[in-house]
Amino acid sequence: MTLAAALLCLAGVSAATAFPRNEHQLSKRELAYSPPSYPSPWMDPEAEGWQHAYAKAKEFVSQMTLAEKVNLTTGVGWGGEQCVGNVGSVPRLGLRSLCLQDGPLGVRGTDYNTAFPAGQTTGATWDRHLMYLRGLAMGKEARDKGVNVLLGPAAGPLGRMPAAGRNWEGFSPDPVLAGVGMAETIKGIQNAGVIACAKHFIGNEQEHFRQVGESVNYGFDISETLSSNIDDKTMHELYMWPFVDAVRAGVGSFMCAYTQVNNSYSCHNSQLMNHLLKNELGFQGFIMSDWQAQHTGVAAAVAGLDMSMPGDTVFNSGRSFWGANLTLAVLNGTVPAYRIDDMAMRIMAAFFKVNRDINLDPINFSFWTRDSYGYRHPSANEDYEQVNFHVDARRDHHRLVRDIAAKGTVLLKNEGALPLKKPKFIAVVGEDARGNPKGPNSCSDRGCNEGTLAMSWGSGTANFPYLVTPDAALQAQAVQDGTRYESVLSNDAPGETKALVSQPNATAIVFVNANSGEGYIRVDGNIGDRNNLTLWRNGDELVKNVASWCPNTIVVIHSTGPVLLTEWYDNPNVTAILWAGLPGQESGNSIVDVLYGRTSPGRSPFTWGRTREDYGADVMYKPNNGNGAPQQDFTEGVFIDYRAFDKADKAPIYEFGHGLSYTTFKYANLQIQKHNAPAYEPTTGKTSPAPTFGSFSTNLDDYLFPSSDKVRPITQYIYPYLNSTNPAEASGDAHYGLAAEEFLPPGATDNSPQPRLRSSGLHSPGGNARLWDVLYTVTADITNTGSVVGDEIPQLYVSLGGPEDPKLVLRGFDRLTIEPGQTRRFEAQLTRRDLSNWDTVLQDWVVTEYPKEVHVGKSSRKLELHAALP
Ligand SMILES: *[C@@H]1O[C@H](CO)[C@@H](O)[C@H](O)[C@H]1NC(C)=O
Ligand SMILES: *[C@@H]1O[C@H](CO)[C@@H](O)[C@H](O)[C@H]1NC(C)=O
Ligand SMILES: *[C@@H]1O[C@H](CO)[C@@H](O)[C@H](O)[C@H]1NC(C)=O
Ligand SMILES: *[C@@H]1O[C@H](CO)[C@@H](O)[C@H](O)[C@H]1NC(C)=O
Ligand SMILES: *[C@@H]1O[C@H](CO)[C@@H](O)[C@H](O)[C@H]1NC(C)=O
Ligand SMILES: *[C@@H]1O[C@H](CO)[C@@H](O)[C@H](O)[C@H]1NC(C)=O
Ligand SMILES: *[C@@H]1O[C@H](CO)[C@@H](O)[C@H](O)[C@H]1NC(C)=O
Ligand SMILES: *[C@@H]1O[C@H](CO)[C@@H](O)[C@H](O)[C@H]1NC(C)=O
Ligand SMILES: *[C@@H]1O[C@H](CO)[C@@H](O)[C@H](O)[C@H]1NC(C)=O
Repeated sequence: MTLAAALLCLAGVSAATAFPRNEHQLSKRELAYSPPSYPSPWMDPEAEGWQHAYAKAKEFVSQMTLAEKVNLTTGVGWGGEQCVGNVGSVPRLGLRSLCLQDGPLGVRGTDYNTAFPAGQTTGATWDRHLMYLRGLAMGKEARDKGVNVLLGPAAGPLGRMPAAGRNWEGFSPDPVLAGVGMAETIKGIQNAGVIACAKHFIGNEQEHFRQVGESVNYGFDISETLSSNIDDKTMHELYMWPFVDAVRAGVGSFMCAYTQVNNSYSCHNSQLMNHLLKNELGFQGFIMSDWQAQHTGVAAAVAGLDMSMPGDTVFNSGRSFWGANLTLAVLNGTVPAYRIDDMAMRIMAAFFKVNRDINLDPINFSFWTRDSYGYRHPSANEDYEQVNFHVDARRDHHRLVRDIAAKGTVLLKNEGALPLKKPKFIAVVGEDARGNPKGPNSCSDRGCNEGTLAMSWGSGTANFPYLVTPDAALQAQAVQDGTRYESVLSNDAPGETKALVSQPNATAIVFVNANSGEGYIRVDGNIGDRNNLTLWRNGDELVKNVASWCPNTIVVIHSTGPVLLTEWYDNPNVTAILWAGLPGQESGNSIVDVLYGRTSPGRSPFTWGRTREDYGADVMYKPNNGNGAPQQDFTEGVFIDYRAFDKADKAPIYEFGHGLSYTTFKYANLQIQKHNAPAYEPTTGKTSPAPTFGSFSTNLDDYLFPSSDKVRPITQYIYPYLNSTNPAEASGDAHYGLAAEEFLPPGATDNSPQPRLRSSGLHSPGGNARLWDVLYTVTADITNTGSVVGDEIPQLYVSLGGPEDPKLVLRGFDRLTIEPGQTRRFEAQLTRRDLSNWDTVLQDWVVTEYPKEVHVGKSSRKLELHAALP
């Protein structure tokens, strides 16, 4: 390979696209390109919030051998140990294998755990404290099981397309709401002593074509994964925003994504990892690959990857891009010594940052079996022993689950039907009100749509300890109230349904759903992403039928995002509509709390459009580049969700931030206080040179596989050891021996002091500290003018004023409980960051000269108070 071709391969275009393409492929010139950024930034001993962790990590890492450091960076292979991912251990220093386990709504694949509401439902609470408490509760449960890294929360996908399969794992397509969700969840998880993982970095906005093998199995002929082509401004102002909050919250780990960005795989994209995350944002923790998202060894190492997951090249190959290859790459000088030290430092610093001691308690569950006994090394079928101790980690978290799911339920419409007060007769209709007759956990990773939808499918799931169905909870309430109660738990019984709901005095409550999930499971023809935005299982027919027979029809929707309500939302017989999201194990109790007015509902974290087309960007269902990487151009820029509707001047059915309450609120007295913040100061100067910790033997003999009395080799397991003192043989790579200069970009291994980026923080993770200077405090008075206590969720939007800016962007919110007649003050701070745009030429944030306005109100389209920023 020529140097130029090699450079392309590493830094920008993947190997396949560097070679001639067939005629159906787009011409190479049109392909987006990711410019190289090297060397990989090393940790900053003075980084805020990390100093203590750094010192402890330094002490530990300085004692480590090269093989031990490699062990820490490389997973032991798919199914090598009990967790969904485990790295090698460091027995000599008393550190057991670190356990990495899904996921964003609780501990996956175990028992006696809590099944929390999904991120999206949590986002709909707009309640920072609940977000924090959920993170803390998930962290405690993970810790009890022996999990060291919990693989969540997610802000990628952010939600560019409403049909995308995994949007529900995150909080909202709005970057500010998503960013608050990320930060609070991370603080909660990490305060429990577990490392959180911000994922997936970045632009992994759909399931189709995220992995080649998966796509081929579905009959698509592609040889490279989808490339999300994202311009620099959109990256900063939209997709990176919540990840910035994650870094500022001190998150210990990141996960790079399956997809490519600008035709370079995320897990060896130096622009994403070296430049944006580690250099600009000053991220001090470690970056792990998504499972099988790593495609190169040395290139990934110098591009900023710190941990290979699950460690093998492909599941159960027994081979690794790292492991022995990383040992060799350090010994032969291709990966600089500082880089392996930096990887180990980042992993151990994250470990110490969450206050863990080296003497960890043992992992006491196995992701791979529900039995008490099983193989300790499941892929190898070796070491049969007790692997599950069935530790009950739940505490009283069910209360929190119930509260979050109720407070995250959105009352979209209410024509006086709610709250229910001892109604005479309730008629519940729909499969979505009942359980799955085969059991709530019968479908692996919830990969089906049977019965009530309380959790979607994929790796971001957990087992239900129980599932309270809407039917069970509503019936229990009815019995207590002396209400007559009957349910038709089928979508396909029109005769019986009509006979029931057309009886006098019926309050019909229809339960419907729409599901989506992760791409490795197909449900009803949906490959993760939803094929449409309509309800599943003839839900629209069901609603329309019931509404034609019953003048008091209440509709409850469980879904992973917006569905099209166009056909029936304005039917006068539909007296109320609720979106109950993905509520988790207390589903029925939560919906009862809202229907009966015991709990105040939340606000929609996304827009409910009239048509699918109104959203603009959509999922790509067919490859558009021959068998090359599908090219997904993010041409709409920052205009997704409500920003797209505002730009196109399209009216949604229910706007972003919308949600009714059982009382009424009056907004008044908008006040803006300007602060004398210091002027913006670009960061200058240089970093210190890259440090190394400890020394290592360069004698290959010292890295040979130890005798079997020391380490008994486990089948397919990934080790740091060499099987031969002939490096080419030990690697087994046909191309072994390529010198660094031949395939790494210039400067890739440079360990000298590096210039700091002006937008980066000087020892302050998240970026330039001046971005968080508070420029204005905005306050407004909110009065409960109704007769019952209720929660109002005041929202602050800013108009940045430029010709390319969205009409409005959310910048602040709060959730205030207000008694009848009481007035409470809403207060929000506007930071410099909140008022800035990303200047692609300057490569920094700037507050433009365009006049800026603030708007405060109940939703993105019900803004009662306005003022220009002085
Ligand atoms: C992707 O390409 C666009 C257009 O050239 C550029 O603005 C952006 O910075 C690139 N991003 C990455 C991560 O390479
Ligand atoms: C690497 O990890 C494996 C698996 O935990 C362990 O058997 C081995 O002893 C470790 N090697 C070193 C050098 O610590
Ligand atoms: C898990 O439970 C087992 C058995 O009760 C216990 O020995 C172990 O310390 C526990 N692990 C953690 C991380 O608490
Ligand atoms: C080293 O990496 C190459 C791929 O780059 C792979 O083919 C080989 O099997 C790996 N070697 C080991 C020992 O895992
Ligand atoms: C160094 O080791 C790596 C990992 O096995 C290999 O890819 C590379 O070709 C080797 N380079 C040299 C110069 O030996
Ligand atoms: C029940 O239905 C009857 C007949 O339609 C009506 O007269 C009566 O007012 C209803 N009662 C209630 C409580 O809705
Ligand atoms: C939308 O997809 C769902 C789930 O696959 C299916 O049940 C429904 O019939 C589809 N709707 C339309 C209008 O095709
Ligand atoms: C509303 O319900 C009544 C039955 O009470 C029915 O006669 C009428 O057609 C329905 N209206 C609509 C718009 O479906
Ligand atoms: C290295 O040797 C061990 C022990 O014999 C064996 O289990 C493993 O598969 C070998 N690894 C490679 C990459 O050849």
